[in-house]
Amino acid sequence: MAMSESSSAPLFSSELISPEVVKQLPEGYNCRPIQRSDYHHGFLDVLRVLTTVGDVTEAQWNERYDWMSRRNDEYFLLCITDSSDAIVGTGALIVERKFIHQLGLVGHIEDIAVAKDQQGKKLGLRIIQALDFVAEKVGCYKTILDCSEANEGFYVKCGFKRAGLEMAHYY
Ligand code: ACO
Repeated sequence: MAMSESSSAPLFSSELISPEVVKQLPEGYNCRPIQRSDYHHGFLDVLRVLTTVGDVTEAQWNERYDWMSRRNDEYFLLCITDSSDAIVGTGALIVERKFIHQLGLVGHIEDIAVAKDQQGKKLGLRIIQALDFVAEKVGCYKTILDCSEANEGFYVKCGFKRAGLEMAHYY
């Protein structure tokens, strides 16, 4: 099926994708901003290794994607594809604009996932490096994230250190 231009347009500027990260990926793999057509490239299936996704219809995906696309100086979702263009990893950076710290920008890393059969190939590390690159380029003074104790070692390998404590209030 021929894809319309809008369905293959990147969520945010491809200039924010680190060329260094792309160079270090396995042969045939790529790192790129997500696009509207990624509903058909396994994006939600990769997220299922992280948590419950639910049954998201294409119309619902499109609506949420378009919402993010209108905020593409705030929502930076990227993915790694393999040699058959299937999505094998994903991650998000959300940029929060503050009054404090001289109108500082803080990056929030969210929803990092690598397909089960692709874990252990440094793809998780490349996703974090790619998100760090975006955060620095757009002017964040720091990037923070919440994770389980089980994943602490991974983020330490990515250069993060423990800082503070997560609290939650579920509704
Ligand atoms: N604990 C300690 N070290 C780890 C862990 C871990 N859980 N996972 C990976 N590492 C190490 C690797 O051994 C490697 O070390 P090395 O450089 O010495 O060889 C280094 O971290 C980089 O590992 P990658 O190969 O890049 O990791 P991978 O591609 O498997 O991705 C990830 C790691 C994202 C945690 C993956 O296992 C995954 O998708 N898990 C399920 C979903 C999940 O838990 N996501 C994170 C949620 S937290 C959040 O989203 C903010």
